[in-house]
Amino acid sequence: MAPGGLIAVVTGAAQGLGRGFSEILLQNSVKVALLDANEAAGARVKEVFDKQFGSDKTLFLKCDVQSEEQLRVAFQKTKETFGQLDIVCNNAGIIDEKNWEKAVSVNLLGTVRGTYIALEHMNRHTGGQGGVVINVSSMAGLGPILSSPVYTATKHAVVGFTRAMAASSSVSGYGVRFNVLCPAFTQTDMLNALRSPERAGQFSHLVDAAQTLTEKFGILSVSEVAKSFLQLVTDETKNGEALMIHGKGSQYVSFPSL
Ligand SMILES: NC(=O)c1ccc[n+]([C@@H]2O[C@H](COP(=O)([O-])OP(=O)(O)OC[C@H]3O[C@@H](n4cnc5c(N)ncnc54)[C@H](O)[C@@H]3O)[C@@H](O)[C@H]2O)c1
Repeated sequence: MAPGGLIAVVTGAAQGLGRGFSEILLQNSVKVALLDANEAAGARVKEVFDKQFGSDKTLFLKCDVQSEEQLRVAFQKTKETFGQLDIVCNNAGIIDEKNWEKAVSVNLLGTVRGTYIALEHMNRHTGGQGGVVINVSSMAGLGPILSSPVYTATKHAVVGFTRAMAASSSVSGYGVRFNVLCPAFTQTDMLNALRSPERAGQFSHLVDAAQTLTEKFGILSVSEVAKSFLQLVTDETKNGEALMIHGKGSQYVSFPSL
């Protein structure tokens, strides 16, 4: 699929990976609604993108993915502004083992909310034009990070949820593809959260072990992960795939067939 002319929504777009995913879409002539709970960071990234790509190519919308109402309004504004919706990336995520219910709310429930609202807009059975949803999991969606059990659980859940949505979509003929991205450690502010004894809560004594894992796996750049993201968006043969990205490149995960 040639992405030029398509319209995207990216959550958690104000910095880090979400910003990188938005940038690679803009470089490929996709218009992007940038959703983020952090209004100041959102305004800053919008200003940078305005200079790079032109002010009509993006829209910043303050949106906390914990709020169904805010997500609904943001999707509606995107449709009203750009006229259509083709690509949704549910990327917003946090590590917080102390306030672990918040981590579940952002990482898992936020992804489910964003996916269901995306489907309402894109489902061919309800007047949509089809499209693609990319959910952002992690290597922690495939194996454990010992200082972050709830983060690990939410990311495993995002993998399972996305694969189930893909299977349901292909059987139901929604015309929407669903894929999940599983990057290894990437150079963003999230690495500070991973190293933070405060965020590790009762597992603060294991933060050094998590640090050792980053040394073992290496640290990816945002642009490396963004290239794999674009591959999942554009390759129309991919539905229900989990793409793992690590220091040695990227590979599709093979799961046991049930
Ligand atoms: N950095 C890594 O090592 C790494 C590796 C694998 C997966 N991931 C995943 O990538 C995604 C992006 O993380 P990142 O590394 O760019 O982190 P980041 O902290 O740099 O950026 C996260 C962005 O999400 C926004 N956000 C947080 N809570 C939100 C909410 N409730 N509603 C809306 N926006 C919210 C933040 O304001 C921020 O702009 C996350 O889902 C994360 O789990 C990160």
